[in-house]
Amino acid sequence: MAADCVAYRKIPRRVTPAKAGCGKHLIFLDTALYLKLWYAAILLLLFTPNPASATDSNLVQGEYLFRVAGCATCHTDEKNKGAPLAGGRALKTPFGTFYTPNITPDPDTGIGRWTDENFRRALREGKDPQGHDYYPVFPYTSYTLLTDADLLAIKRYLFSQKSVHQAKRPHELTWYVRSRQTLKVWKALFFSPGTMAPQPEQPAAWNRGAYLVNAVAHCGECHTPRNPMGGFMKSMFLAGGLDGAEGATVPNITPDKTTGIGKWRESDLAEYLETGAMPDGDYAGDVMADMIDNSTKYLTPGDLKAIATYVMSLPPVRHKIRRVKKLAHRVLVWVKTGPEVQPAPVITDTKRL
Ligand code: HEC
Ligand code: HEC
Repeated sequence: MAADCVAYRKIPRRVTPAKAGCGKHLIFLDTALYLKLWYAAILLLLFTPNPASATDSNLVQGEYLFRVAGCATCHTDEKNKGAPLAGGRALKTPFGTFYTPNITPDPDTGIGRWTDENFRRALREGKDPQGHDYYPVFPYTSYTLLTDADLLAIKRYLFSQKSVHQAKRPHELTWYVRSRQTLKVWKALFFSPGTMAPQPEQPAAWNRGAYLVNAVAHCGECHTPRNPMGGFMKSMFLAGGLDGAEGATVPNITPDKTTGIGKWRESDLAEYLETGAMPDGDYAGDVMADMIDNSTKYLTPGDLKAIATYVMSLPPVRHKIRRVKKLAHRVLVWVKTGPEVQPAPVITDTKRL
């Protein structure tokens, strides 16, 4: 039976329904059977996968979180025109090159067979359905803080996307991290799964900002320096460093007046995350430009403000990373991309404290 007839039947009618074709199926059924079918139809509607409708707020919420969390940035191999979410993007790190897996709902090569619990465990605990540990290049170290409701909204959105059959490409790693056994030690030292408790003495906007920065947008994954084993240096939260994603040099975004963004106003930070424009007239470059383009530009005005409030309230950390705009680099980018794109500024770390 056509789907619109099923929906139509949700309105019980005694008279022959006006909608052509729909009523004919019902006219000879007795009331009990009619009711049974009616409930069955509702159950079917509730449990059918992908009931994607524009008004489904859970799905909309899932899409919003998915964007802000930047899942597509890593799981789509845009450079080689890969299919959305089918993986294969190379992520170069000091430990070798990782290739992201397929997270489309394809049952064989994607995550189509995963249960809610499988998905929750991957993001909350960094473990695959068989119990093997994931490498923290998959930022479950931040996603672990997502609430169950938000995790499942993301899963639901992912499962509403197109399936793509594309097998995983194995990682190419340095020998000493090739075995996933090493991750047990790493996780014991640097990872603790669990959600965030809101801080009751802080206003709701601050707590929302804390959640977005730490759990969803995972700002610390790039902006917090790491020790030689790749663990966060917690006392240097958001203080920047040299070993950001893909070798990027990442600026200090704590509110320190001389080495961080302490001279920015909250509205400057919100504006930067929305458009990439900096208070000095320059524009975001490097992986931050991708981050803005794929993720933070989708933030609602309220969430942008919440992030800015939270970041500006953090303890300032003095950690000098000097920004040098090299003319040669500007020219090179200009030649490569054409004059309409703002050249990316180069940053060099002059001194680490
Ligand atoms: C910084 C890049 C990056 C981002 C951002 C990212 N992932 Fe991943 N993800 C990875 C990598 C790399 C792996 C593989 C890890 C491994 O092999 O141990 C992975 C693995 C996964 C897996 C396991 C798939 C499997 O077949 O075992 C799932 C599910 C997943 N990611 C979902 C997500 C979701 C959902 C988001 C957004 C909330 C996300 N990822 C954001 C890099 C990323
Ligand atoms: C994938 C890594 C990555 C993530 C995630 C990330 N950033 Fe960045 N960020 C960078 C890099 C690299 C730069 C330097 C950009 C440039 O060269 O212009 C930067 C620049 C910035 C700047 C400009 C600072 C300055 O002095 O120039 C701000 C502010 C900022 N990021 C805030 C954030 C916030 C807030 C988040 C989370 C919502 C975030 N970033 C997430 C990598 C990242």
